[in-house]
Amino acid sequence: MMDIRSQKLFSEFGLKQLLTEVAVGPKKINISQAMAIAIYEAYGGAQRVSPNPLVGCVVLDSHGNFLSKGHHEVYGSAHAEINALKKLDREKLQDATVVVTLEPCAHVGKTGSCALYIKDLPVKRVVYGLVDPFHLVSGKGAQIIKGAGKEAILYSEFKDSSEGKLTPMMSAKEKEFISSQLEILAENFLKNFRYSKPFVALKWAQSLDGKMALKNYESQWITNAQSRNYAHYLRSVYDVLIVGAGTVHQDNPKLNIRLEGFDLERKLLIIDPDATVFKSYDRLAFSKYHKKENVFFVVDTNSSETSIAFNLTVNPPGSFKNVLFLHKNEAGFFPLEEIHKFCFERGMKSILVEGGPTTLSQYLNQAAFDRVYAFVAPVIMGDGLSYSDQFSISSMTQRLNLRSVEKLEIGDDVLFTGLKNI
Ligand SMILES: NC(=O)c1ccc[n+]([C@@H]2O[C@H](COP(=O)([O-])OP(=O)(O)OC[C@H]3O[C@@H](n4cnc5c(N)ncnc54)[C@H](OP(=O)(O)O)[C@@H]3O)[C@@H](O)[C@H]2O)c1
Repeated sequence: MMDIRSQKLFSEFGLKQLLTEVAVGPKKINISQAMAIAIYEAYGGAQRVSPNPLVGCVVLDSHGNFLSKGHHEVYGSAHAEINALKKLDREKLQDATVVVTLEPCAHVGKTGSCALYIKDLPVKRVVYGLVDPFHLVSGKGAQIIKGAGKEAILYSEFKDSSEGKLTPMMSAKEKEFISSQLEILAENFLKNFRYSKPFVALKWAQSLDGKMALKNYESQWITNAQSRNYAHYLRSVYDVLIVGAGTVHQDNPKLNIRLEGFDLERKLLIIDPDATVFKSYDRLAFSKYHKKENVFFVVDTNSSETSIAFNLTVNPPGSFKNVLFLHKNEAGFFPLEEIHKFCFERGMKSILVEGGPTTLSQYLNQAAFDRVYAFVAPVIMGDGLSYSDQFSISSMTQRLNLRSVEKLEIGDDVLFTGLKNI
């Protein structure tokens, strides 16, 4: 399944044709094309590498011909560079160029150090897309490679090869585009390391007139079966799924991942102020599809219902390790950053919020998100419920803008995604 975040890269860089050409014979490509393939390749790990970053790698021979590609496939397994390089004999690597989306790692973690591995190969240079934000690695991987007499060059600083063996042909526009694609590829990882916060994506299905349910709460189904399948893909690429209590009560959803060949379970967090979902746990469908240790609740500290549900006069709140007892803000809602902090501290580094309208409105009001996925179906639902019903602004200067927007046609539906403009 194509990750929508790579849609523009795929079409604007002519990757369909390029990938066919490199697969059939010697093909000389420039550094931007190699980086584009490496980025596209990296998305192949989207369902399995978290909390590690998505990384892709392409190897070119001394003349700039494509030799191989690889990506980080599964958390804890070989890194992209190793997967691309291990396929090649040493002779082929004489004066080769390694193009990789992230600076090769310097430290020995679950696997060996990629920088040390490359240092011992006869390659001439490494062009890397981003400096690793991880303090144990940052700049050190490049240093190891340079220390072995090889070139280690940040993609944005790459200039034409002095020997003319490579044909970089990068226009400033291409370079800017690839640089933004590199940031998008590593968006979860960069947010985690730059801000010690999880990356948060909102997802909803809407009609053409912006509705996600009728007033009587009927909402199934707005989008087509392929879109709903894609929504399961999204669930598989984020560490935790967040929903509000209203959705659980109205729809009694399973909230699991139903994708052929995908066997992992993600965590689930329910915003459940009065513990109404918690109290009905065993009667609700989701409880059959999630291990208890993977389900988390956020409840209102001041609610008498909550106090009764957890028998707080006997059990201290701290004894429920999967429950966040939280105070509401002045507007009567939970401060979402507190929920995100709770998730981050428990290893949930990326979040997908599926709504419904009350939950999503709060995310918009608090601007507590990084990315939006909106599935838009060609139907009109009239005066139903919208994700922005309770998001109120009085001036166009307060509107939320999206940037780096991508569109994917899914049958007659359109999936839009974009990053919150900050
Ligand atoms: N089209 C779609 O993509 C989509 C997706 C999901 C759901 N839906 C539809 O949405 C409808 C349900 O709407 P809904 O608004 O009731 O659902 P909801 O957002 O799932 O749940 C609302 C409840 O969650 C709690 N809540 C959420 N965020 C909170 C916050 N920041 N602070 C405090 N409490 C918070 C509140 O609980 P309390 O009331 O206990 O205070 C609130 O009433 C259903 O018809 C469902 O089918 C549609």
